[in-house]
Amino acid sequence: MLENIHTIGVLTSGGDAPGMNAAIRAVVRTALYHGLTVRGIQRGYHGLLREEIIHLSRNDVSDIIQKGGTILKTARSQQMLTTEGQRRAAAILKKYGIQVLVVIGGDGTFSGAQKLADYGISVIGIPATIDLDISCTDYTIGFDTAANTAMEAIDKIRDTSTSHERCSIVEVMGRDAGYLALWCGIANGAELILLPERHNFDEDAIIDDILENRRKGKKHFIIINAEGVGNSISLAKNIEDATDIETRATILGHLQRGGSPSVKDRVYASILGARAVELILENKLNRVVGFKQGEVIDFNIDDALKMNKKIPEYQLEIAKIL
Ligand code: F6P
Repeated sequence: MLENIHTIGVLTSGGDAPGMNAAIRAVVRTALYHGLTVRGIQRGYHGLLREEIIHLSRNDVSDIIQKGGTILKTARSQQMLTTEGQRRAAAILKKYGIQVLVVIGGDGTFSGAQKLADYGISVIGIPATIDLDISCTDYTIGFDTAANTAMEAIDKIRDTSTSHERCSIVEVMGRDAGYLALWCGIANGAELILLPERHNFDEDAIIDDILENRRKGKKHFIIINAEGVGNSISLAKNIEDATDIETRATILGHLQRGGSPSVKDRVYASILGARAVELILENKLNRVVGFKQGEVIDFNIDDALKMNKKIPEYQLEIAKIL
């Protein structure tokens, strides 16, 4: 360990995700094990700008690995989007002696961290979002739990949809990214998946498809619609009007962000939290950790934020066939 790093901070920012607590716990316990002091920043960058900074001990992170949400709370900060906010945030971190800040969140959180690095605060990013839309990593903390939560809810909707021989539109989260919709579409055997990445769908073609399937004796029709496509309620009405098949829309909403993290989210969050601290000890700073092809990786934060991730065409193709 380099002698000069003695105090680190950790925060969660943006939309919460199951497994954030497991990541906080791993950061705190790994850092304490190696003799670092850890400060927790509450309510993300919003709380940082209000100096909501606490001391974190080993006991403070007891009994949290199984809990959804984030014990540090989270927020979306408009101020952190401004130069003045970023400059002040860096000054506050310096005032509290925080030399490296570990940020747990999504792309927006990492962009904030990148700005802090410009103002002389070293950062490490841990990817956490139920959207899975961070380009430098195959895995983001929270996606597995959220996808399982949504899948179980859609199974239940399917039961009643089948009994009533209805068409059901289920809207899952994902304003800009369709990974949850795609995974649930495959896992729930949906007839159709609508993704923000493929915004222009043909409503008439959907209606023809439903009618054709009904003629073939299909008893229900499940459409998984991503939040970014939206309009589930009006789509349901249009389908019902055009097909005479009862159609219901269900918007799953924030229940997808809560709940006890899955084993994958707990274990992977623990690995990424520990790795984040190891990078600090190796003096590899301003990096983002993640997983690629099963391996723990890390990238420079500037490079990570320039990367692009595309919806996997193969998964889309098999979803259509199946
Ligand atoms: O955290 C990601 C996410 O859940 C997106 O899927 C969704 O579009 C957005 O956050 C909702 O944000 P909020 O909870 O602020 O309404």
